[in-house]
Amino acid sequence: MAERMSQDLSEALKETTKEVHEQAENTQFMKSFQKGKVSLREFKLYLASLYYVYSALEEECERNKDNPVYAPVYFPTELNRSASLEKDLEYFYGPTWRREIQCHKATQKYVDRLHHVGQDEPELLVAHAYTRYLGDLSGGQILKAIAQKSLHLPTTGEGLAFFNFPEITNIHKFKQLYRARMNAIPMDAVTEKRILEEAKRSFLLNIEVFEELQRLTQGQPSANGNAVQPKLELRTRGTNRSHSPVAAVENERAQMQHKDMLPSTPLLRWVLALFFLAMTVAVGLYTM
Ligand code: HEM
Repeated sequence: MAERMSQDLSEALKETTKEVHEQAENTQFMKSFQKGKVSLREFKLYLASLYYVYSALEEECERNKDNPVYAPVYFPTELNRSASLEKDLEYFYGPTWRREIQCHKATQKYVDRLHHVGQDEPELLVAHAYTRYLGDLSGGQILKAIAQKSLHLPTTGEGLAFFNFPEITNIHKFKQLYRARMNAIPMDAVTEKRILEEAKRSFLLNIEVFEELQRLTQGQPSANGNAVQPKLELRTRGTNRSHSPVAAVENERAQMQHKDMLPSTPLLRWVLALFFLAMTVAVGLYTM
């Protein structure tokens, strides 16, 4: 067997993907998300894209569950996301969600890579599982809180099943276990290097998806040349309108209109405030 690298796989993965992680965080889509500026339309497209990605990833994890190059990190009960994404998509798109969503080009590229890896280079599958699942258990938890607040989603969790891991009681400990399992996968130095490269590739595939989402929601032509305007109308099963995405959109619109009515510069606001103050004093003096 060829020489094994000195550093643990988990440490090497973290180090190697640091730069692409920053790149992913700094995509326009993720920056808007972090600022709480993600629109409902963007969020719905994001979930739809994730659904295709996780369906492919989990199909390949299932295929390789007994393969020693993947088996140690096979945690379907704790990690699988496809079923929770199905719930979220039904919440946002309604019962016909399967007909409403589509797999856009960058997502399809990611899906194709996952199938290729799962079928032809299964030793690289751990890189994809790492990128998505450890990401969901890390930054994903921050995004959950932001999405809930900015889209006014119910605190009971509807529409956010993707971000919830009910089978994991302690996320920090689970991540430690996951890292230990990754480190226990038998591999030589050449394979480890290929896994590190694949992890970077996986981040880049995610970045391409975010960039495509951005283009789609801006109504600009997508990479395949089609200007895609996703549907805005919403169907939800939620009975509490104030918590529904519809209410969120209405709220968003109302907030925008409200903002439009206010003077845009602080100076103008001061002048207006002084004007009203002077008027109040004048009326007071007049009525005395
Ligand atoms: C706004 C977007 C994001 C934020 C705020 C964010 C934030 C974080 C934070 C705080 C950690 C924890 C670091 C630690 O425990 O030391 C983390 C880890 C991680 N993130 Fe992100 N992240 C974001 C996007 C992404 C994306 C898009 C991916 C991949 C698709 C990703 C994949 C990962 C992975 C794999 C880890 C685990 C690193 C390790 O411990 O090896 N993150 N992220």
